Amino acid sequence: MSVGSKKLSEVVKPFIAELKPYEPGKPIEEVERELGISGSVKLASNENAIGPSPKAVEALRQCVEGVHRYPDGGSFALKKALADKFEIRPQQVVLGAGSDEILELLAKCFLAEGDEVIFPWPSFAMYPIVTKGVGAIPVAVPLNADFEHDLAAMAASINEATRMIFLCNPNNPTGTGMGQHALDDFMQQVPEGIVVAIDEAYFEYARRSDFPDALAWVRKRPGTIVMRTFSKIYGLAGLRVGYGLTDVETAGYIERARHPFNVNLPAQVAALAALSDEAHVEASRKMNAEGIAYFEKELSEMGLRSWPTEANFLLIKVGVADCYDQLLKQGVIVRPMDGFGLPGFIRVTIGSPNENQIAMTALRKVLEAAR
Ligand SMILES: Cc1ncc(COP(=O)(O)O)c(C=O)c1O
Repeated sequence: MSVGSKKLSEVVKPFIAELKPYEPGKPIEEVERELGISGSVKLASNENAIGPSPKAVEALRQCVEGVHRYPDGGSFALKKALADKFEIRPQQVVLGAGSDEILELLAKCFLAEGDEVIFPWPSFAMYPIVTKGVGAIPVAVPLNADFEHDLAAMAASINEATRMIFLCNPNNPTGTGMGQHALDDFMQQVPEGIVVAIDEAYFEYARRSDFPDALAWVRKRPGTIVMRTFSKIYGLAGLRVGYGLTDVETAGYIERARHPFNVNLPAQVAALAALSDEAHVEASRKMNAEGIAYFEKELSEMGLRSWPTEANFLLIKVGVADCYDQLLKQGVIVRPMDGFGLPGFIRVTIGSPNENQIAMTALRKVLEAAR
């Protein structure tokens, strides 16, 4: 295929051609089709096994007949509800088709070719993708020996070219979290004019008592954005809605750059209903805590190491090279960590009690086969 006298491969931006697409967790249908099995469980994408809030489901039902209309492009009701909840102004709230879109909008607004973006690694795979996607330079700072952010090394990586920093708290895929003191100490070292995006996709699951009040930094430092999502504890991953809380100026740039109707009508309506369903959030948190306790007990019986988690998943060192494939064959879909430089590790989402049991039984079989 050629365009004029040039091939497409000659005109595509080189940094786009070089991108490796994000690899999502395998869908259940695909695994069952490929392996000819049924009854599999997917613990690969950190979704909420309880499902969506019943209030969100009812709101969705009621909005269906109105989908011939465009949604409210300004998402007035949802922004107001989030602003009220977090005691900020609606003009400080930005919404995206998942917090993924907010990451992209940040890159679009603030990064140019050659700019540097600092983030921890292993961490959320979209950080390098959105960075490279605009020709900026990823500066991946390895986690420390406890798989926590190495904030001293991240601070030492800041230079004249640094435009943006991603923090991931709790960190995906390790589940580890940072406390208030560590965040404060780091933030004090970041010069003005660098955008700091604090990704708190799993915020509602965090249990440590010193989990930071990152919003305090939004209030006092321009160019700080806290990102959260309705995909995780709120159980609305399929609808794609995430939000950012930031200063009015930063929000204003993101508003200019976004599509006019980036959050669709069902997503707005369901997110608004889910936000008010505290019982659903509480039940999800409880099931998650019980699931973590169950996993940790099982894993210690098996002699396997996992890392302290503030989220709805566990990083597990299995030490069996093909454990991901072996679990898959038993119909248990988890996330392999090879792509993060951690062969023999898996990330397992906390599911329902039944799913958790199926996963642990399958893992025992993998270990038995390896011994
Ligand atoms: C740390 C982190 N940030 C952001 C996201 C994106 O979430 P969403 O685009 O569904 O809001 C995820 C999803 O897995 C995540 O783990």
